[in-house]
Amino acid sequence: EKAGYDWFMRKEIYEQPKAVLDTLLGRYNEARELTLDEVRIADSELKRINKIIIVACGTAFYSGLVAKYAIEHWCRIPCEVEIASEFRYRDPIITSETLLVTISQSGETADTLMAVRHAREQGAKVIAICNTNGATIPRESDAVIYTHAGPEIGVASTKGFTTQIAAAYLLGLYLAQVRGTKFGDEIAAVMTELESMPEKIQRVLDNTDQFHALATRLSDKRSVLFLGRHVGYPIALEGALKLKEIAYLHAEGFPAGELKHGPIALVEPGIPIFVVVPPHGRDQLHDKVISNIQEVRARGAQTIVLVEEGDTEVEPYADEVIWLPKASTLLQPLLAIVPLQIFACEVATRLGHDVDQPRNLAKSVTVE
Ligand code: M6R
Repeated sequence: EKAGYDWFMRKEIYEQPKAVLDTLLGRYNEARELTLDEVRIADSELKRINKIIIVACGTAFYSGLVAKYAIEHWCRIPCEVEIASEFRYRDPIITSETLLVTISQSGETADTLMAVRHAREQGAKVIAICNTNGATIPRESDAVIYTHAGPEIGVASTKGFTTQIAAAYLLGLYLAQVRGTKFGDEIAAVMTELESMPEKIQRVLDNTDQFHALATRLSDKRSVLFLGRHVGYPIALEGALKLKEIAYLHAEGFPAGELKHGPIALVEPGIPIFVVVPPHGRDQLHDKVISNIQEVRARGAQTIVLVEEGDTEVEPYADEVIWLPKASTLLQPLLAIVPLQIFACEVATRLGHDVDQPRNLAKSVTVE
């Protein structure tokens, strides 16, 4: 059932183009309207929402962090993202104008479920983004947007993550449509780009030789760092989580701008640092990340840089360049995470670990 792959995780990494495509399918019609039929919450209710809180755990939490950037940008509604186990116990401010969005691959995560119950008791509407039909979280929510990733067996979530981003983006665009914060043309432009992502993910997957060699070179390292800014920051966190979970390596993700506030003290000669470089844009993000790369390189770090094709500015400061197909800032996470997933899988395989069932971890965490 692993279809010729050594691990379910690897199979699931390679299923991502289809998983993302299936998640987008049938949700945007020829009249150029998002039709999230499953979201049975009246438009009038969605127009009243004045705050969104995304609640999730682990990888799903990181997909929520990515989604926040897009949702606030498109909808202009304040959006918080919180770890489910922290949310429930701090007396969060929830009203009938709050929309709680949960993200959970399994739909059975106890901490996330408790957050749903708590938020509903306070009168909030709850939308679940979930990969498992009929699971407890979607059953207890007002509405559900299913990710169509198919069953995810590997404990380390991969296609779960990319499809969660796709589904959360659909929700963000849907809210923008209902609330009129984005016009049809703008939504259409994002949808066209979203629909091009499966093919671009496939292109990343077709060029993986480099990751194998890199994993061999780096598998004796004790510690690996990941840096990013904007949506590249949650990608750094997720890349580090993958490596912790299955390779049992010390790995940490940081916002690149935080380096000088502490983490740069960790940089010593030879430490591998992955850096996600945002595409060139009107903002200063790109150049800021380039200078962060220079800073860590000057201290002896081995820099592995994920950057879009054609952006050669970074090459002089990169020990290794991983080229990504071109994408806008908000959509780049769907590409940038893929090499990091493969890298973790490769390192764990070389270290002789059980990639699909890492020690101490369960696929779904049904206790608080
Ligand atoms: O089923 P869920 O999406 O609610 O699970 C949440 C986390 O337990 C899960 O993402 C976990 O962090 C994974 N092992 C990450 O690879």
